[in-house]
Formats: sequence, structure tokens, C-alpha cells
Amino acid sequence: MCGIVGYAGARPALGIVLDGLRRLEYRGYDSAGVAVINSGLLSCKRSGKLTNLDKALAELSANGGDGGLVTGTTGIGHTRWATHGPPTDRNAHPHQSTNGRIAVIHNGIIENFATLRAELEAAGVEFASDTDTECVAHMLAAELTALEEGSPHQAPAPAGVPASGTVPNKGPLLGVSFEEGSPVQAEHVSRVPSSKPGEVLAEAMRRVCRRLEGAFTLLVVDKEAPGVVVGARRDSPLVVGRGEDGNYLASDVSAFIAHTREAVELGQDQVVTITADAVEITDFRGEPAAGRDFHVDWDATAAEKGGYDYFMLKEIAEQPRAVADTLRGRLSDTGQIMLDEVRVSEQDLRDVDKIFIVACGTAYHAGLVAKYAIEHWTRIPCEVELASEFRYRDPVLDRTTMVVAISQSGETMDTLMALRHAKEQHARVLAICNTNGSTIPRESDAVLYTHAGPEIAVASTKAFLTQLIACYLVGLHLAQVRGIMYADEVATIVSQLQEMPGKVDSVLDVMEPVRQLGRELAGSPSVLFIGRHVGYPVALEGALKLKELAYMHAEGFAAGELKHGPIALIDNGTPVVCVVPSPVGRSVLHDKIVSNLQEVRARGARTIVIAEEGDEAVAAYADHLVRVPRTPTLLAPLVTTVPLQVLACEIASARGHDVDQPRNLAKSVTVE
Ligand code: M6R
Repeated sequence: MCGIVGYAGARPALGIVLDGLRRLEYRGYDSAGVAVINSGLLSCKRSGKLTNLDKALAELSANGGDGGLVTGTTGIGHTRWATHGPPTDRNAHPHQSTNGRIAVIHNGIIENFATLRAELEAAGVEFASDTDTECVAHMLAAELTALEEGSPHQAPAPAGVPASGTVPNKGPLLGVSFEEGSPVQAEHVSRVPSSKPGEVLAEAMRRVCRRLEGAFTLLVVDKEAPGVVVGARRDSPLVVGRGEDGNYLASDVSAFIAHTREAVELGQDQVVTITADAVEITDFRGEPAAGRDFHVDWDATAAEKGGYDYFMLKEIAEQPRAVADTLRGRLSDTGQIMLDEVRVSEQDLRDVDKIFIVACGTAYHAGLVAKYAIEHWTRIPCEVELASEFRYRDPVLDRTTMVVAISQSGETMDTLMALRHAKEQHARVLAICNTNGSTIPRESDAVLYTHAGPEIAVASTKAFLTQLIACYLVGLHLAQVRGIMYADEVATIVSQLQEMPGKVDSVLDVMEPVRQLGRELAGSPSVLFIGRHVGYPVALEGALKLKELAYMHAEGFAAGELKHGPIALIDNGTPVVCVVPSPVGRSVLHDKIVSNLQEVRARGARTIVIAEEGDEAVAAYADHLVRVPRTPTLLAPLVTTVPLQVLACEIASARGHDVDQPRNLAKSVTVE
């Protein structure tokens, strides 16, 4: 959802914050804004992409009017995916308190905001935006005032809001706001004994957080506490970067990876205060708390486009390496499959009698593929559920149920809530995740990390392939622990998996005709995708890619279902992409899809056939034939998905869309 970054240190903050926002823009790009402390609170924000903010800042500088924005060494920045209020200038973050003392940025949704807003308005606070976030700014200002007046108790939200002589907050979007000499500053006397910078601000944050319901990451700067950024998190990501010349806060490590690779994962319901040389963490009640230190195992170049026009193109090209990295070191000397973190006993794994896979979007499609492999290898029933639906239908779960949560970001709220529901019912939870330091692996009993590296493009590509690898490994691990597969059988499949990076590479080598086809199909009103067995989820994934990138009607179907209704969609020239299963081993499946191909062609479809090398039976029914290497049936999605990613990317680009940042979307969906 939104991207958040903060810095307190010795260097000018603005450049660091903007650079961080650029790396976080994939999380949301409806509007962007910054606030810097430098002899006052200075802020600038604009609707639209980050470039609009860049332009506004450049104009301010050109007019000599940045007022110190460029040189201040404490700052915060935000890139927004709108929830409350449209993506306008006034709703862009940061939001300021009425007295102009503090600026707040926020990711998530404050669910009791209507109540809080009503309280504040009843006390005379005038709101300058439609956002839930602005409540926090006013509440923090109130708590700061209450604390400084010596109130030992948590003040009601409106208390202490300055009544008169304050700077009206009708629109900090105007560019830079100067508040030096405002009455609040002049009257500022801290009555809270404190030797540490930011202690009062941190206490105000704790008081406010205790009143908030919902999910949030918050960062605040206070012009009375220069050199300090205070953050808080509940059910929304926030990591600390420990640098040599200052400390960082961000939604994810990519924001500060150019400056440090030493990070701290914050726990649930924690408040963190950073200054140039200190990081202090407490819980919401003020008890000292600790985060989990970790080292980021990739560097800034991994989060750059590296010469590609789009991150998506780079990430498609990185798939062979990502698959290889996810496989590396998974087979021990004794032939055992290794996960990364296992906080569940082997006996518990042996007792598993039912598996649910929960995930969203592309990760859900990975789960659909996994079902075939896991059931085949473990003989344990495996259901795949959309995480957003899972807990609402009251699934039957107990200690012998394993729930596999798949998430690239590790922060998807729907998946997190499904996971928590599973844990409440005492199920064992295993996470497949790409993001170290994120919430989903932290709350799971066992974790297998995909080593895809940072995925910046909103459309998931390398994450999908590595999720497939992880699912295969989980299936093999369970089969092994339960004694269903012998070490040599597992080793055979692992060696087949180890051939996959080369096979994916060879698919990438022959993508030019697919790109050409993409340009030809750019004007089509609709594209249909069909597949059988593991090719069915691949068809769904191909359609999802096209929808999200090209904004075209696209649907994936189980090929056998066509005749039960969807075949009516086919008209003269309708493009139908068909994912053909290997003819080797499962010839019945193959024969059936050949019939489906004939059916759609008989109704005028233009067929685009993804088929294995050597499969000559399909050639006669293909208007366009895309060859993939011969691959064991269960592993085939690792190669058949790739042309569909390239096709969607090319169609979107030919239609003039921003491939990396499709409209209405965000990379990390941290609201339900
Ligand atoms: O971070 P997650 O894997 O949990 O994200 C799940 C979906 O939001 C994600 O896969 C989404 O569907 C992609 N944009 C699709 O390309």
C-alpha cells in the first residue's frame, strides 16, 4: 500500500527521503509528500506520481523558496495508495496538526477514525483533508500538549488542541510551511522530565497508538524535537536501518539499502525512536522492547532497473537466477530438504492430515499449482483458498491441519488475517515468503524464504516462479518427513528442479516472436486463456497479468469448462492462449486439450499455443506456436508461465501503459 521512509542523521534528509520514496513508489503512487525539520517544519506534497513532487520541489528551489527543506537533516516521506479520500493534493501525506507543530505519515487504515474525527471536530478541530491519518496528527498534538502540561494520564483526543493564536492548517500542500515563532513554539515548556531527545514525542505516540484500531505504520516529526523521528507499527510493515551517519525507518529495506544493509525488524505494537546515533524501541505501554537484527543479503543494484525499460522486464530476465537461488542449499548431505525456520516438531509434521494453502492474486495461483504436487507427493488432501475468503467461511481447522501462507511481500493483510485465524484454531502455519523482516514469516511456525531478491514491478513474475519452487520443496519435505518418499526419489525431483533455471533461460532466449505477437494483439478487446491440470492455474495467471497490466478483458478457464458456457465468448479472431500439457506420461490430458483447441478454432478463435518441444500433435491447431523445453508435468508451470508474462508486458507497453505501476494497484496490499 503506501510507502514510508524516515531519516534522522548528519546528512541532508530530503535527498535520502526522496531516493527512498523512489524505491518504494511501487507500493503506491497516487500522491507523494515530504516533511523536513530545519528551524521549523517544512513540508511539500503533491497528487500523482513522485515526479510531480520532484517538480514542485524543483520550483521551490528555483524560486529560492525551499526555506531549508534541502538542508534539514531530519525528514519523512510518503508515497500513497489512497484509501480514505481521493488522491488529491489535500489528501496527500504528510498531514499536520492544526498548530503546525508535527507532521505525520501513515500506511494502513485506522478503523475507528470516524469516532476519533467526530471527537476532534466536537472539540473544534478543523480538518484539512478527508483522511483517517489526519486524526493522528491532531491527537498527537493534543497528547504533546497534555504531556508538556504535566498530565499524567492519557488525554482525551481533543484535549490540549491549541484554542487560539495557532497557525491555521488549511492546506500545507501549498508548498512550504514556516511556523517559526508560532505561539505553540514560544510557549513550549517540557514538563516531562526527559534527558533523551524525542522521549515526549514517543510517549505521545504510545498514548495515541493505544487509542487506534486497525492497521497502521506511523512516522512523525516534531519541530520541537529536531533530530528525531518516531515510528509505530501494528499489522503494517516498518523496518529500521542502522546507518553510520544516521538511522532510517521504512516500509521495507529497499528504501535505505543504498545506505546500509543492517536492519532491525520491529515487532507487533512497537514504537521506535530514531536519532542520528540511537534506536530505541518500546511496546505501546512504554516497556523496553527489542527488534530482530538482520543483514540484507542483496544490495542497491538489485533494486535498480539495470538498463531495462521496466523493472518487470528485468525481473522476468532474473527468473533463472531467482529459481537457482531459491533452490540453493536445500538438500542436506543426508538428502533432507531444508526449510529456513522450523518452529514445529517433526512429529507435528507427521501428524498433518489436511493442508490449506492461503494466498492472494499471483501467490494464490502458485498455491493452485502446489495442490497438484503436494497431493501427488504426500497423499495429504490439500485445499487452496483465497486468503480474503478463508476465515469468513469458518473453515474446519485443528492441530493436525497445516496452513501454508504464500506471500511475496509477507505483509498482505488478507493473508495475514487468514494466518492468524488458522493459528487461533491451533493449526500449524508454514509461510512461503520473499521478504525477510516481514510479518507473515514472523508469525508462522515454519518458513521457507524464496530468494527472488526485491520485486519492484507491481506485476509479480520472479516471485511466482520462486513460490512454485518453494511449494515443490514443501511438498517434498512433507513427503520425506512422513516417510512417503525415499531420499533417492526426493533427490531425483530436486535434480529435475535444478535443471529448471537453464530451461527458463532457454525460454527467455526465444521470446522475440511472443513480443511481436503482443504488439499484434494490443488492439484486441479480449484474450482468453485455457489450460488443464497445472496448466489451468497458469491460464489464470496469464489472464491476471494481462488484466492488471493492459487493462484488457482477459479470463482464464479450465479448458474442459469451456463447453459449459465460456465458449460463447469466442468470436471470429478472438485470441485464445492454450497451455498444453506434456504429451509424455499423461497423454489423456494432452489428447483432451487437443480436442479443446479444435473446438475453439471451429468457432473462429485465433490460437496461441504454448507447447513442449517435440509435441507435433498440436502444431496443426496453432495459429502461433510457442515452444517450451520438455519438462516433467508437475514442474511445467515454471516454463509455461514465462511467455505469458512477456506477452502481457508487451501488450501493456504497446497500449502505452506504465508497466511497472498499473493504475489503481499497489505492490503490497496491507488493507483488507
Ligand atoms: O505480496 P503477496 O504475494 O502477498 O501479494 C499477493 C498479490 O497481491 C499479488 O500477487 C498480486 O496479485 C500481483 N500484483 C499480481 O501480479
